[in-house]
Amino acid sequence: MTSPSTQVYPVIWNEDRVLLIDQTKLPTEYRVVGISRSDDMARAIKTMIVRGAPAIGVAAAYGMYLGAREIQTEDRDVFLNQLEKVAQLLRQTRPTAVNLFWAIGRMLNTAYENLGSVEQLKESLLTTAQAIQIEDLQTCQAIGDQGLSVLPTTPENLCILTYCNAGALATAGYGTALGVVRSAWREKRLARVYASETRPRMQGAKLTAWECVQEEIPVTLITDNMAAHCMKQGMIDAVIVGADRITANGDAANKIGTYSLALVAKAHDIPFFVAAPMSTIDFKLATGQGIPIEERHPSEIYQVGETVVCPPGVEFYNPAFDVTPADLITAIITERGAVAPSELQQLQLKTSNWG
Ligand code: MRU
Repeated sequence: MTSPSTQVYPVIWNEDRVLLIDQTKLPTEYRVVGISRSDDMARAIKTMIVRGAPAIGVAAAYGMYLGAREIQTEDRDVFLNQLEKVAQLLRQTRPTAVNLFWAIGRMLNTAYENLGSVEQLKESLLTTAQAIQIEDLQTCQAIGDQGLSVLPTTPENLCILTYCNAGALATAGYGTALGVVRSAWREKRLARVYASETRPRMQGAKLTAWECVQEEIPVTLITDNMAAHCMKQGMIDAVIVGADRITANGDAANKIGTYSLALVAKAHDIPFFVAAPMSTIDFKLATGQGIPIEERHPSEIYQVGETVVCPPGVEFYNPAFDVTPADLITAIITERGAVAPSELQQLQLKTSNWG
C-alpha cells in the first residue's frame, strides 16, 4: 500500500486527466485511478470509486469537462446540444446528493454564458471545474471553523460521534463533519472520535477511521447498534454528520441510519449537528419528503465480502439514505455560519443556487 501524502485529495486534475482515489479499495489498498472520459467518470461515481456529496459534485464537474473535450465540432449549438447529453449521463449516476446536480448546473451555465468559440467554451469549463474544486476545499475549512462556535464548551475535550464518511475523501479535501472534527482537534478541543461503522458499505470503518488514523486523531470504531449504549454511558458529547441534501425547512438527507442516530441523540439530550456546504442545500425543495432516495443493489445486504449471510428466499430493502427531520437537528453548520434549521433561509445567497 502506497502511503498517501499528509493531505488527502480524492479528486485531482493532473495535466490531461482526473485522478481519483479508489474509495472502494480503502483501507487495505491505496489505489489511484486515472479517468480521461466522461463515461468512465459516470461509472466511477455510480460504483462509488468517488463518493460523498461534495466529492461527487467536483468529480461530475470534471466529468462535464471531459465530455466537452470529446465533442468534435466548431458549431456552438451542436456543442451545447452534445454537452446536455453529457450532463444527462452524469445526472443519472446517483439521485440523492444535490451537489451532483448543482455542479452540473454550474458547468452548463458556464457554457451557455460564454459566447466565444467552442475551444474557448471548453477552456472555460475546465476553469470552472477547477474553481468548484478549490472553492469546496476552502468551504470545508470554513465549515470546520464555523463548527467550533456551536460545539459544547464542556467538557474541555469532546468525544464526538460521526457517521458514514464526511471527511476529506467525501469532499475536495478537509471534510464537512470531519472538517469540524479536524478544527476541534487543531484547537485542542477534541478528545476522541467515535466512528460508527455504517452498514452496509462501511464508510465509517473503512474511510472515516482511515482518515483519522492518517491524521493521528484518536478514533474508536463502534458498530451501528452500539450508538445508543455509548450515549447512555455518557461517552458521547456531540454527534456531527454530513448531508447529501438539505431542504429549505432544514430536513437533511444523509446516509441510512442517520435518522436513528438523531432520535437517539435527542433521547439523551446530546446535540446533533449537520455540517454541509451551501451547495448541499436545495432551497427548491420545501421539505425532505421531496428528496429522491437512492436504492442500491441487495448484494450490499446479503453479502459480507464474498460470503452470503442469509438464506435463499429472503427479500431485501436497501435504501442508501434517510431523512432526519429538522426538529431533531441542533444546528446546521455551513461555511456562512451555524444556524438552527429554521434559520437556514437567512443564509441563502441572492445569486442563484445552480441545478
Ligand atoms: O453513499 P455515499 O458514501 O456517497 O454517502 C455519503 C454520505 O452519506 C455522506 O455522509 C454525505 O455525502 C456527506 S459527505 C461530506
